[in-house]
Amino acid sequence: AVQKTTISELKDHVGEEVSLQGWLYNSRSSGKLVFLILRDGTGLCQCIVEKAEFAEEKFDELKRLGQESSLVVTGTCREEPRSVGGYELSVTGAEVVCEATDYPITPKEHGVDFLLKHRHLHLRSQRQWAIGKVRHTVIDAIRRFFNDNGFTLIDTPIFAPTAGEGEQTLFEVDYFGQPVYLAQTGQLYLESAAMSYGKVYCFGPTFRAEKSKTRRHLTEFWMVEPEVAYIDLPGLLELGENFVSFVVQQVLEKNRGELETLGADIPHLENIKPPFVRMTYTEAAELLKSDKAAKFMAEQLESFKARKTEIEKHIADIEAEEKSGGVKKWKREKNARMLIELRTELEELEKKIENNPKHAKLAAEFNWGKDLGGSDETIISQMHDRPVFVTHYPRSAKAFYMKTDRSNTDVVENFDLLAPEGFGEIIGGSVREDDYDYLMKRIDEEGYDPENYSWYLDLRKYGSVPHGGFGLGVERTVAWITGEKHIRQCIPFPRMMDKMYI
Ligand code: 4AD
Ligand code: MG
Repeated sequence: AVQKTTISELKDHVGEEVSLQGWLYNSRSSGKLVFLILRDGTGLCQCIVEKAEFAEEKFDELKRLGQESSLVVTGTCREEPRSVGGYELSVTGAEVVCEATDYPITPKEHGVDFLLKHRHLHLRSQRQWAIGKVRHTVIDAIRRFFNDNGFTLIDTPIFAPTAGEGEQTLFEVDYFGQPVYLAQTGQLYLESAAMSYGKVYCFGPTFRAEKSKTRRHLTEFWMVEPEVAYIDLPGLLELGENFVSFVVQQVLEKNRGELETLGADIPHLENIKPPFVRMTYTEAAELLKSDKAAKFMAEQLESFKARKTEIEKHIADIEAEEKSGGVKKWKREKNARMLIELRTELEELEKKIENNPKHAKLAAEFNWGKDLGGSDETIISQMHDRPVFVTHYPRSAKAFYMKTDRSNTDVVENFDLLAPEGFGEIIGGSVREDDYDYLMKRIDEEGYDPENYSWYLDLRKYGSVPHGGFGLGVERTVAWITGEKHIRQCIPFPRMMDKMYI
């Protein structure tokens, strides 16, 4: 019997007859040959069907076979560096399992809503597939890092009776007549577990009723949160940079092919090693208002405009080629895909060109005391080639549980980690207020009912110690690593304020 294998294992079967089980990703024919591009979940492989080897009926069936039909292909494997994946199959037999006609996602431009409504099918696209593989590695690396560094996994609840991260983004659920909320964070529970185990982490879905339609916000996202007893701010930053570097290096090791497919910036990722940049919020505010930032923004605007001209020329060239006629089918498809990419980039550039002066103005007028906005974060991160820790934010801009800096009570001992490439904050964390009276005062200031937090306050009565932790958002991290522009592409079935179709 012919041996079943997968496309990723073809390297071990050169010269052998094997069978692959998959779906038709794409095909083209040229008289006596049909080229079937098969995908099987592990990769792509070109399978060549020669007319001379088959009955006419079979050859025609394969020639007409629609995109995403499922089939089992048997053939002899050979190395072919010019072919996708590096191997090819000379087909000796092919069984169609389910014929598909009129697959809705074609190589032409589809709108965001169309693709989200077809997410169950869009998951099969090369891009979504590659992002999913990277996401898998990111999650595996997260668990590995904490498990190998003495952390104990603590599963925190999803129904929570109180707010963890501010009351504006709570999702309320009717819990047998009582209002409870979907978890915004596991942190408060984790703090209690840290007093039992020392080093703990939780990892799960997190819910926020975000009323902003940005490319960084989901209403349901995955967050990993470590929490450590007896740690200070420098210790947390060190943990954060080692952790993020490990995750990035694991992706480089395991998903190089996917990163290439996605056009990710591999040299940039290779440079993600400790130490990261450290600056205080006050320094960040000064940087935003500086001439250096103004100059940076002006130069960026120029480079956007130059790129725009380049793309417009490229589009015009392709359109001229199409108009001249006589373009082969495979070339037309290639052109169609290229045009989609170019037009998408053009649209993004136009947005950037429009926003640049607005963001430059916001930065120049930045006032101490405000939280950093998305565009401020983008500017700071783009001015550096490694992730940037911004520490010591104004107390008034941050959550009640963050420890007041005793040497400057206007700020807290917290940090955000801003990823380069302008994706913004991927980590938020802090040292926790461990003093009963200070914490009580902050709960009061926020107008929370201390009754709801009495168990949390208990932790400050019975063996309180300096402690802290942080939360890393999986989707923002995946977006940064893959170079994907929109967070919705980094979770299989995204939930956003204005979009949830399937
Ligand atoms: O900064 P945040 O709100 O921090 C916390 O929740 C803390 N309790 C964490 C801790 O100290 N244990 O969120 C942490 C991270 C952000 O940096 C971001 O990566 C992600 O969670 N995040 C979101 N990701 C997608 N969509 C949203 N709406 C997000 N909100 C936060
Ligand atoms: Mg935050």
